[in-house]
Amino acid sequence: MTPDVLYLRASGTSLVLELADDLLPVVRHWGSDLGDLTDEDLAALGTAARVAFFDSPFDVADQVTVLPEHARAWIGRPGVEGSREGRDWSPAFRTSGPATTSTEPDGTQRVVVRGADATAYLEVVLELELHPGGLLRVRSTLTNTGHDTYTLGAVRHVLPVPEVAGELLDFTGRHTYERVPQRQPFSAGVHSREVRTGRTGLDAVHLLCAGEPGFGFRHGQVWAVHLGWSGNQQAYAERLHNGARVLGAGEALEHGELRLAHGESCTTPWLYAAHGTGLDEVTARFHAFSRSRPHAPSRPRPVTLNTWEAVYFDQSLERLTALADAGAAVGTERFVLDDGWFGGRCDDTTSLGDWTVSPDVWPDGLQPLIDHVHGLGMEFGLWVEPEMVSIDSDLARAHPEWIFAAGGRRGLESRQQHVLDLGHPGAYAHVRDQLVRLLQTYDIAYLKWDHNRYLNDAGHTPGGEAGVRAHTLAAYRLMDELIAARPGLEIESCAGGGGRVDLGVMERCVRVWASDCIDPLERQQIQRWTFALLPPGWVGTHVGSPRAHTTGRRHDLSFRGETAIWGHLGIEWDLTRATPEELAELGEWVAFHKAHRDLLHEGVVVNADHPDEAVWVHGVVAVDGAEALYSVTSLGRPVTTGPGRVRLPGLDPTRRYRASVPTPGTELRREGRGVVPWTREGVVTTGRVLAEVGLPMIPLLPEHSHLIHLEEVR
Ligand code: GLA
Repeated sequence: MTPDVLYLRASGTSLVLELADDLLPVVRHWGSDLGDLTDEDLAALGTAARVAFFDSPFDVADQVTVLPEHARAWIGRPGVEGSREGRDWSPAFRTSGPATTSTEPDGTQRVVVRGADATAYLEVVLELELHPGGLLRVRSTLTNTGHDTYTLGAVRHVLPVPEVAGELLDFTGRHTYERVPQRQPFSAGVHSREVRTGRTGLDAVHLLCAGEPGFGFRHGQVWAVHLGWSGNQQAYAERLHNGARVLGAGEALEHGELRLAHGESCTTPWLYAAHGTGLDEVTARFHAFSRSRPHAPSRPRPVTLNTWEAVYFDQSLERLTALADAGAAVGTERFVLDDGWFGGRCDDTTSLGDWTVSPDVWPDGLQPLIDHVHGLGMEFGLWVEPEMVSIDSDLARAHPEWIFAAGGRRGLESRQQHVLDLGHPGAYAHVRDQLVRLLQTYDIAYLKWDHNRYLNDAGHTPGGEAGVRAHTLAAYRLMDELIAARPGLEIESCAGGGGRVDLGVMERCVRVWASDCIDPLERQQIQRWTFALLPPGWVGTHVGSPRAHTTGRRHDLSFRGETAIWGHLGIEWDLTRATPEELAELGEWVAFHKAHRDLLHEGVVVNADHPDEAVWVHGVVAVDGAEALYSVTSLGRPVTTGPGRVRLPGLDPTRRYRASVPTPGTELRREGRGVVPWTREGVVTTGRVLAEVGLPMIPLLPEHSHLIHLEEVR
């Protein structure tokens, strides 16, 4: 192989890196698999393929390193922004020695490149990994070797995408309405999405995708990036007049937030990247990565009963044991006591930071409730919000200096709370010790870790220096310490719903709370796009009460159940008020979920590009291709009488499958089956026919779904 070119391949993705002229790596290709290539072929992609320029190196875009540099003719956003009191602001790294390549036991291919700028006194260690499922990730560690402090403004990595990537897709949202997609042309300039609220964001960019115009789930090449970081961040798509197109991301730093003294280093978050033909392939790469992590759950995800929308702050042993009884009767396996159990917390004005059991609400502590829950065969879980503090709390009274405050002011209160600066060692130790004591006192298998206020004006007292980065790293450390203190502890990442959904926090969490909105109509969209990044078993999906608390809409239990079964199933509904019929039907949904949860949680997620936007078709196909479950959902009213023929993607084209329509729940779901004979009698056909021709579907009421189950016929 040509020494200057590295060729990495995994599961249909190829990465060609050029390491010529002592430069940091230049990506010559990141995309579809290029097959077997000789040294000559690789040379043709590399040095030999360089574009000639007439009189200006800035007019060609073939020198874009992963950490782009002005010094190498990059005229867009630089990879490293920073200076030593105004000097050394345009570093130009030369590699020091050849790249180190290795293959990890799990098949991950690693490339490590070391570089230094002898004038700016900076060193960099750049790590690139191509994981077996085709997910690429990149990060850098920078070291200040100079005597004076080096202040960093940004460290961003970029990956080039080709000219065919003419359309962008990213996401926005708000409380109870997360992951709303937005599309636009990849036009000249910078499309930049920034988060400065100290957490990933209800409006998180989530995935920033560039693809062939009109790309869908199953067609069109698409390239996507995601930053594995839960603090301030920036993701952007940049297109220059010289033809360069890149997708990039990095941490967003406030002024003076990251200062490296002599010999100090910092490591960036990982930038994750996936290419695919259609979004489903991109998703499969992200899912393969998450499922391969050492902490990925290996046991079935326990069906959860969460108390929040059932009782809110109205907690009592009597009320909650009755709720637990009702939950156990329908098949729940984990009971999560939400907000309201600690300090003097009777509403949301008080007690955050006092992580001791409320003597008023729980005079005998939590043990009687935990015993009851265990007696029903359920695990016990607890809600906490360790990064927050109420002004009305023992913690705030004793240590006001641990509350974030910039410029001598505490900043605005939000939900009557402030943020505890975990960058203060005392604050960190206080919260850790209280939580460890809880974990030692009680058998708590699970923490729902919430985060409800922005980290704006997040200054570290007394000086007021920006503290989001230190806080974010401390929050990660705290989670790691708690997991070490209580082996087997599972943590859910929640931030006012789905405000902290990223692969940084998911290095220690195993579930996200996708949204405070459990209206199934909204949930269809929220889950579709949360699943685009995380495997369904990592996403909390609950059945709520008949009238959704956040939207006021009413839905049949069939639609609530059908929507919730796809993820980590839970129930968030005061079951003590449900009718016997509702409880019986709910029990059917829970049983159905349990019977299929291996498939639901471990299968390959597929979405059809159905022509009518009112009809959504998604599913999971077993990894061995022998089974699949699909859902056909009518979000609105289709313009045609029925949804027509529905194509079912992702099956093995050569195998034969028997299709049936499972009907957990009410008779209503059976309506209309007579219209389409196969739904009564079943049908056997090939995966190719199902994907290319499809099956005629039962007319659907708006805001209802049907399931289709496929089983291989041998
Ligand atoms: C946030 C969470 C909810 C619930 C409440 C409790 O809003 O997203 O699920 O835990 O806090 O205060």
